[in-house]
Amino acid sequence: MQSAEGLHELCSLDRQIESFNNCLGVCFQVGCIHLPKSQSLKLYTIAALSKIECLSRKERSMSQEDKQKWDQRYATDDYRKTNPVDLLHEWGPRLKAGRALDVACGAGRNALYLAELGFAVDAIDISTAGLNIGRQLAAEQQLSINWIEQDLDGGLVIDESYDLIVVFWFVNMPLITELCRHLKPGGYLISSQHLAVEGDLSGPRSSRFRIQPDELRSAVDGLDIVYYHEGIQQDDDGGTLASAAVVAKNAD
Ligand SMILES: C[S@@+](CC[C@H](N)C(=O)[O-])C[C@H]1O[C@@H](n2cnc3c(N)ncnc32)[C@H](O)[C@@H]1O
Repeated sequence: MQSAEGLHELCSLDRQIESFNNCLGVCFQVGCIHLPKSQSLKLYTIAALSKIECLSRKERSMSQEDKQKWDQRYATDDYRKTNPVDLLHEWGPRLKAGRALDVACGAGRNALYLAELGFAVDAIDISTAGLNIGRQLAAEQQLSINWIEQDLDGGLVIDESYDLIVVFWFVNMPLITELCRHLKPGGYLISSQHLAVEGDLSGPRSSRFRIQPDELRSAVDGLDIVYYHEGIQQDDDGGTLASAAVVAKNAD
């Protein structure tokens, strides 16, 4: 038999019971009441579901904050980068053109480059303003790209396989692992991420947008790592960039 006290212990494991109680207005009186097993199980299920709902609400609101932030940055030209990421510039031309996916494409500098190389590109981002800039640039350059507005924190909705998937400067490691399953045989995944190391670094201040050493390598576990580098170097603006970069290949 599961006591209400035991139930409370389970729920408070990660100290979130108060917040999910508040979320759904579920209130448990925790004392020395003993509930029949079936009832305590039911309560535990409600608690678990409330918690999931709560966390996904929190994630959704964080995504909304990110969307507003990025819409603002693109609208005010605060993130104006036009060249493709160096790693893609180096590796893209070596790969056979096919279907490509640019994850968190922003204003599309990498997607546009891939389209120029002859890839058929799907490009996803949460920012309407970023995607609109990409659309306009593609039209000006007579390039055809499939722009998709989607919150990637809610998971991937597309169900396609790609010859190349790129993820630049967007931290969602479970998503990167999931993306490995969307590679065609012999397909490549290329990614660069900001590293969380001490120092006065360029790039994001929040640790939410940086990864730990070796995290990128672990995220692509199962793929053949063709190139991996972690290090600190000067960036184009004279700042200090700490980054991790990977080029990984799916088995043929
Ligand atoms: C640092 S920018 C990188 C953009 C692009 N990869 C590049 O290299 O120029 C991060 C991008 O992630 C996008 N982003 C942030 N949160 C997102 C989410 N939950 N779903 C989809 N895109 C998101 C932002 O809109 C922004 O365009």
